[in-house]
Amino acid sequence: MFLPELISLDIKTDPIQTLVIPVCEDRSIHDDRAVAALCRKAMGLAEFGGKKDESLLWYDRAETSAQRILFLGLGPADKLTPEILRATAGTAVKKAMDLKTGEIALVAPAAAKMGMAPTEALSAWMEGACLANHLYDRYKTTKKITPLARAVLLVKPETAKSHAALPRRVADICAGTILAREWVTLPANEKRPPELAALIARAAEAAGLSVTTLTETELTERGFNSLMAVAQASDAGARLVVMEYRHPQAKRTVALVGKGVTFDSGGMNMKSEMGNMKMDMGGAAAVAATIVTAARLGLPLNIVAATPIVENMISGGATRTGDVVTTHAGKTVEINNTDAEGRLILIDAMSHVIDRFHPDVLIDMATLTGACVVALGEGIAGLFSPDAELRERIQAIGDAVHERCWPLPLPDDYRESLKSDLADLSNVGKNRWGGAITAALFLSEFTKDTRWAHIDIAGTAFTGKDTPYCRVGGTGFGVRLLCRLLEELAGGTA
Ligand code: BES
Ligand code: ZN
Ligand code: ZN
Repeated sequence: MFLPELISLDIKTDPIQTLVIPVCEDRSIHDDRAVAALCRKAMGLAEFGGKKDESLLWYDRAETSAQRILFLGLGPADKLTPEILRATAGTAVKKAMDLKTGEIALVAPAAAKMGMAPTEALSAWMEGACLANHLYDRYKTTKKITPLARAVLLVKPETAKSHAALPRRVADICAGTILAREWVTLPANEKRPPELAALIARAAEAAGLSVTTLTETELTERGFNSLMAVAQASDAGARLVVMEYRHPQAKRTVALVGKGVTFDSGGMNMKSEMGNMKMDMGGAAAVAATIVTAARLGLPLNIVAATPIVENMISGGATRTGDVVTTHAGKTVEINNTDAEGRLILIDAMSHVIDRFHPDVLIDMATLTGACVVALGEGIAGLFSPDAELRERIQAIGDAVHERCWPLPLPDDYRESLKSDLADLSNVGKNRWGGAITAALFLSEFTKDTRWAHIDIAGTAFTGKDTPYCRVGGTGFGVRLLCRLLEELAGGTA
């Protein structure tokens, strides 16, 4: 991945392969007079009006030394959002890849003219470019396109100076997102629990974290019976990776827990459709990539991330429906549906993290329920927290980074549905209604007094179609959200 650059160039004389100019349909957003003049000429043509998703490609113009100019429509100026900038930068990078130009120079419009803060606008352009430049073609024996070697944003000299630290920050966060994407996209036969645990541990150690990995033998000895009930049908075993990042100036400890089911067949309650179930470790990927990124950013915070990693399979030794386990926390659970396995591994990991680290805040992220996807679709995650301040903060950050989260309730009277005749709790509700809520309520039985939020990313962790800055596969959803949340929590304003 390239490090995006903020530089000033003279578009009349400096050598440029591909000059990218974003254009609004209703008014000029550029301070630079030469750029504004080019936009007016382009807008004079019938085939380009600056409308959203329109584009125009010019070659060999007298007004500029650039080999080609790519105009990209942004739509009306008063409807601009950072997400439109991300998508436009992504489109620019993808078109440049198709053109095989190797690099782009994107003219950054005046932030004030777009009604945005400069940092917000510049971050969005750079994020879109970095994330769109990611290709996952390790299994293609012939590579048709290659990522760009360089992307620069053309800004005023004073903007380049005042935002000198921004490209590094954006590149680190995008590298984290890409790390999570690649783990999610990796096929399940290449990330069985010991392998995924090793990949995560290696990335964490390379970032200077201290890492402890518990194996199935240790997990069994130490009473992670709920986790092991899910793992027991797989001949690949189970792992719990615990990563710690410490900072001398830290005022609080934040714990992250992510669901790591490397393949979810449903177990004895076998799924009829399990095509993409290699993505069921999207939560583990997101929290592991986040703590790695937080270490690279040097955030003044103590962070612990735990990823329970199992494969939900079927065998002669598989968990049956109606089996009862004593969880790590001591409560007993009747497993009435082996496909509701994510919550079973999360509660043991959460209980361990709470006992061992006493975190001030605990966030879990999981591809937990199909019901959440039914409720919110593939673009919005479900957000649950009894703490209104934490919930509102996460929702606001999600909007800002476009990893959107929508709050769903934790109604006490629905707990009735999780009662078991035999044990303390059933792992599923009495019927399928409100399935995302009953799953979250189940988790809440294991949070003790810890400030906690649960983010259900079942719909958002994987995309089956290309989007402007993410191709088919893992999306890395959650890394940008959690990194921003950790930055805020480190700032001491929470
Ligand atoms: N991994 C699935 C949830 C899921 C569904 C993720 C679709 C991504 C896309 C989870 O383990 C599951 O199977 N949940 C069940 C719970 C039910 C049995 C209570 C579900 O949602 O159907
Ligand atoms: Zn399942
Ligand atoms: Zn699952």
